[in-house]
Amino acid sequence: MAKLELVGLYKRFGAQEAVKNLTLVVEDGKMACLLGPSGCGKTTTLRMVAGLEKPDSGDIYIGGKRVNDLPPYERNISMVFQFYAIYPGMTVYDNLAFPLKQKKIPKDEIDRRVKEIAEILRINHILKEDAIRLPAGEKQRIALGRALIKEPEILLLDEPLTNLDARLRAVMRKEIKRLHLKLKTTTLYVTHDQIEAMTMADVIGVMNLGVLQQYGPPHELYNKPANMFVAGFLGTPPMNFLDFSYIVNGKKYFDFGEFKITDPELLNMLPSTLESNELVLGIRPKDVIISFNTEESDSYGWEIKVVEPVGDKYIVFMSLGDKSIRVVVPAIERGIEVGKKVGIRFRKETIHIFDRKTGNAIL
Ligand SMILES: Nc1ncnc2c1ncn2[C@@H]1O[C@H](COP(=O)(O)OP(=O)(O)OP(=O)(O)O)[C@@H](O)[C@H]1O
Ligand SMILES: [Mg+2]
Repeated sequence: MAKLELVGLYKRFGAQEAVKNLTLVVEDGKMACLLGPSGCGKTTTLRMVAGLEKPDSGDIYIGGKRVNDLPPYERNISMVFQFYAIYPGMTVYDNLAFPLKQKKIPKDEIDRRVKEIAEILRINHILKEDAIRLPAGEKQRIALGRALIKEPEILLLDEPLTNLDARLRAVMRKEIKRLHLKLKTTTLYVTHDQIEAMTMADVIGVMNLGVLQQYGPPHELYNKPANMFVAGFLGTPPMNFLDFSYIVNGKKYFDFGEFKITDPELLNMLPSTLESNELVLGIRPKDVIISFNTEESDSYGWEIKVVEPVGDKYIVFMSLGDKSIRVVVPAIERGIEVGKKVGIRFRKETIHIFDRKTGNAIL
């Protein structure tokens, strides 16, 4: 186990800047998730840590030691990929033992460690089976086992659950979390799946276009997103964004075009130094309240366009002029009918405000 530190990592492929100035620390024994859309530089980052890719600049430290110039096999890391390899024609036991045999570890020591890891991974009952014939979930456990049996200081996981079906993904999410809590191997986990990141990580780093957007505990990124990218990436259905201007000549108000918000309590939450008036209000679908009463609304006249029942909730799509918004309501709520005009109110304490030009959070 060891602390992992990336300092100003930069990597380009020809004209393509894959990772730009990436700095982050994964504390000893913690699991960090790099989360972001396809092509944002997640795998490139992992490959640099593994030593499979050389950074153009920046430094990588494992346990305080700079490892830039060490080859992969001297870095004491293990990596599991999306397309994990199971050695065909080998039993589960031999698959697990393989990395240790390569290291010329004595037979009885190998036996002890294979049984130990098999027990932790709950595959000790299938050690004699032909690994290639097993179901996907078991194969994934074997791949994890093979990575962990080396007792690496750093475990690198690149979308290890992507090839599993939804049910198995949920099972393996819990399993990897359980393993991590037991073994406490410092882990860098790469995924584009926010649920994986939110449920497993101690810290999440959201990346976009090679740039780390925000790095912190899941709840911090969810509740205090640093910018519109992070705000829109975390949460399903995603956060609503509504453009508005902050009007301060005489009476202050938020001008959304089709409607205004004049609530002084909300206006007072804004920093007094606010200058830009090209702003965006961000509100999560669960934090919009539908009201059938004009008086109780911040704005009225929203037309219900689509109602999607999802289990015990409705996702309601509404529009007013060229604005549209998504709202999540309990499926027991009455009067949610397509074509109906309703009002909306925002839960004040859950409102986010962003600068339209930079995308950065103001509130
Ligand atoms: N060997 C390479 N040669 C050229 N370009 C590359 C190479 N590896 C990665 N890239 C480019 O660098 C960028 C980052 O790629 P990377 O594979 O790190 O993204 P990713 O976040 O892992 O995406 P995905 O979710 O699709 O796996 C992409 O634009 C990709 O096309
Ligand atoms: Mg990738």
